[in-house]
Amino acid sequence: MPTLQINGKPVNVAAAPDTPLLWVLRDELGMTGSKYGCGVGQCGACTVLADGQPIRSCSTPISVLGAAKITTIEGLGGSHPVQVAWEKHDVPQCGYCQSGQIMSAVALLATKPKPSDDEISGAMDGNICRCGTYQRIRAAIKDAAGLPQVAGGAPLDVPAAPAAAATN
Ligand code: FES
Ligand code: FES
Repeated sequence: MPTLQINGKPVNVAAAPDTPLLWVLRDELGMTGSKYGCGVGQCGACTVLADGQPIRSCSTPISVLGAAKITTIEGLGGSHPVQVAWEKHDVPQCGYCQSGQIMSAVALLATKPKPSDDEISGAMDGNICRCGTYQRIRAAIKDAAGLPQVAGGAPLDVPAAPAAAATN
C-alpha cells in the first residue's frame, strides 16, 4: 500500500501505483479542491505542488511521487497570503480553475517573491481560465507580492483552451 506525504501527513492509499494523483485525492481521500478539467495535463485545473513545484495531478501517477511532499489547495488552510489576495481582488468567476491558479501562484512566489510581469506570465501560462479572470489573477499575485499595480495592468497571455470536459 503506497504511502504519500500529503499536506504534512503520511497517508496510506489503496489505489494502484499507476493511478493518477488527482483520482486518489478526489475519489479516495475526498479532497475535491483540485479539479478535473482536461485530464491530459493541458489546463492546470488539477495543479498541486510536489516539493514546492507545480505538477499536473491528472497525469502524475502516484508511483513517481516517492517521498515528495504534496501540497494541495486544502493544505494552504484558507488564510495563505495568496488566498487572502485572491479574496481581496474577488478573482474567481465560476471558480473551477481557481485552485490550480492559486497553487501555481504559490509556487511562483515561493521562488520569486517579487516576480516581474514576464515571470508571472511564464509561471501562470499553463493555467487556463475559461472565464477570463487573468487580469484579476495578475493583480492578486502582485498584491500578495507587495508589488504596485499597474493602471490597466497588462493581462496575462491567454492560452488556447483545449477541448476540456468539466466535471465536479
Ligand atoms: S485536468 Fe490536469 S491539466 Fe487539465
Ligand atoms: S473562474 Fe471560471 S474557469 Fe476560471
